[in-house]
Amino acid sequence: MSGERIPLLPTQTNHGRGNSSTQRTLMFVAPYMWPKSRKLQMMAVLSIVFTLLSKLTNLAVPLALRSAVNALTPGSITLPLALWAVVAYVTLRFGTNALNQLRSYTWKFVSLDQTRVFGVATFAHLHGLSLSYHLKRKTGEVLRVMDRGVESLATLQSLFAFTIGPTLLELVIVCGVFVQFNSPLIAVTTFISVVGYAVFSVYITNWRVKLRRAMIEADNAVTDKATDSLLNFETVKYFGSEEVEVQRYSERVKEYQDTSLKTQLSLALLNNGQALIVNLGVMVAMLLAAVRVASGSFTTGDFVMINAYILQLYGPLNWLGSAYRTISQAFTDLEKMIELSQIPKDVDDAPGAQPIDVPSGSVTFENVSFNYGLGTSGQLSNISFTIEPGKTTAIIGPTGSGKSTIVRLLLRFYDVHTGRILIDGQNISSVTQSSLRHAIGVGRRRFVLVDVSVIASLVLIWRTIFLLCPENSQWHKIPYFSTIRLSTT
Ligand SMILES: Nc1ncnc2c1ncn2[C@@H]1O[C@H](COP(=O)(O)OP(=O)(O)OP(=O)(O)O)[C@@H](O)[C@H]1O
Ligand SMILES: [Mg+2]
Repeated sequence: MSGERIPLLPTQTNHGRGNSSTQRTLMFVAPYMWPKSRKLQMMAVLSIVFTLLSKLTNLAVPLALRSAVNALTPGSITLPLALWAVVAYVTLRFGTNALNQLRSYTWKFVSLDQTRVFGVATFAHLHGLSLSYHLKRKTGEVLRVMDRGVESLATLQSLFAFTIGPTLLELVIVCGVFVQFNSPLIAVTTFISVVGYAVFSVYITNWRVKLRRAMIEADNAVTDKATDSLLNFETVKYFGSEEVEVQRYSERVKEYQDTSLKTQLSLALLNNGQALIVNLGVMVAMLLAAVRVASGSFTTGDFVMINAYILQLYGPLNWLGSAYRTISQAFTDLEKMIELSQIPKDVDDAPGAQPIDVPSGSVTFENVSFNYGLGTSGQLSNISFTIEPGKTTAIIGPTGSGKSTIVRLLLRFYDVHTGRILIDGQNISSVTQSSLRHAIGVGRRRFVLVDVSVIASLVLIWRTIFLLCPENSQWHKIPYFSTIRLSTT
C-alpha cells in the first residue's frame, strides 16, 4: 500500500451570509487547486512560465513585422535589417506555438494528478457513507456527478490560468504598447471594443442557452410522441385515431423546426454581432493610425503593427462564448459535487473513539430496539441476549424477523435506537467502526468478491475463516449450541 494521504472532501463549506454559491464552490475546490508534491509544484510553475513566455513572444511578433515593414519602406530600404526582422518574425511565431505546446505538456502532469486526487477523495467519501445511503443510491447518477465534477475542476483551472488570465494580460500589455507609441486613443478604442465584445458574447450566449434548451426539449418531444404512439399501436387502432396521432406528430415536428430555426438565427446574430464589434474596433483604430501616418507621426510599420496587434488580440476571442458556457456548466457540476459531499454519515465514529479490544469475544444485546425508519415494516423491539465466547449460537426466525438486521447492527451499519450492544463489555458505538469490522468475520451464503487479486481474495477468505473459527474454539466439536429465536411482530 502506498502511504500517500489524499485530502478528504471538505464536508463543511461556509454557508454564512454573503457567501454566494460561486464563493462556496471556489472554497470547496480550493484544497485541490495547488499540487502537494514538489515535482508537480515545479511543473505548475513551469506551465505558468511557459504561458507568460508564449504571451511575450506573441507580443513581439507585431514588433518584428513593424521593423520589417519600416526597413522595406521605399526611400529608406535596409535589406539586412528587413531580412533579420523577417527571420525574427517567423522565429517568434514558431516560438509562441512551441511554448504553448510545452505548457500543455507540463500542465498535463498537474491536471492528471489533480483529477486523480479529487476523484479518489470523492470515491473515499462515497465509501465513507452509510449502508442506508448506498441502498437508496442511484449508482449511475452518483458516478456521473463524480466524473463531471472532477472533470470540471481541471477545466475551470486551465480556462482561468491559460486562456482568460493570459488574454486579459495581453489586452493590458497591448494597450500599454499603444500608449507607449503615443496613441492613447487607439488604446482606449481597443480596450472598449474588446470589453464590448466580451459583454455581448456573454449576454447573447446566455440567451442562446434558453433557445437551445427549448430546441432539445422539442426534439425529445418528437421522439416521445413517436415512441408513445407506436408502443400503443393497438389502442390507437381500437379508437381509429391514426389520423389524430399523425397530426400530433406533425405538430411536434413543426415545433421542433421552429425552435431549430430560432437557434440558427441566434447563432447568426452572435457571429455577426461579434464580427461587427471586431470590425468597428479595427476600423476606428486603423482610421486613427492612418491619420497619424498621413501627419507623419507614424511610419507605415507602425500602421501594420497596430493592425497586427488588434487582429492578434481578437483572434482567440471566439472561444469566449463557449468558455462562458463551459464555466457555467462547470460551476453547476461542482455544485452537485458539493451536495454529494454534504450527505451526512448516518453512522459516524464517536469523538476520540478507540479501537476495540476483543480478548474473548462475548456479544451482548441489551434492550436493543431498532427499525429502518418511517414507513418501513421491520423492527426489533427490546431484544436482549448474550452470546458466550466459544459457544456456537444460532439466531433463527421466520423471514423478515430481523436476523440479518441483528448482524448489521453488530457490524454497526446502523445505530440502535435504544439499548446497547457490547463486545467484551465495550459498547460498539464508542469504538472505531473499522476496528469493530476487522474483529468480526462474516461467512455468507454467497460470497461476493470484490475486484482484487487471487492472493488478496484468499487472504480475505482466510481472515474470515480464521476469525469465525479460531484455533482455541474447537468449533467443529460444537460443545454448546444455543439458539436465539426471533418472531415477526
Ligand atoms: N434497508 C431496509 N430498509 C427498510 N426495511 C428493511 C431494510 N432491510 C430490511 N428491512 C425490513 O426489516 C425486516 C427485517 O429484515 P431482515 O433482512 O433482518 O430479515 P431476516 O430475518 O434476515 O429475513 P430473511 O430470513 O429473509 O433473510 C424486514 O421486514 C425487511 O423488510
Ligand atoms: Mg436475512
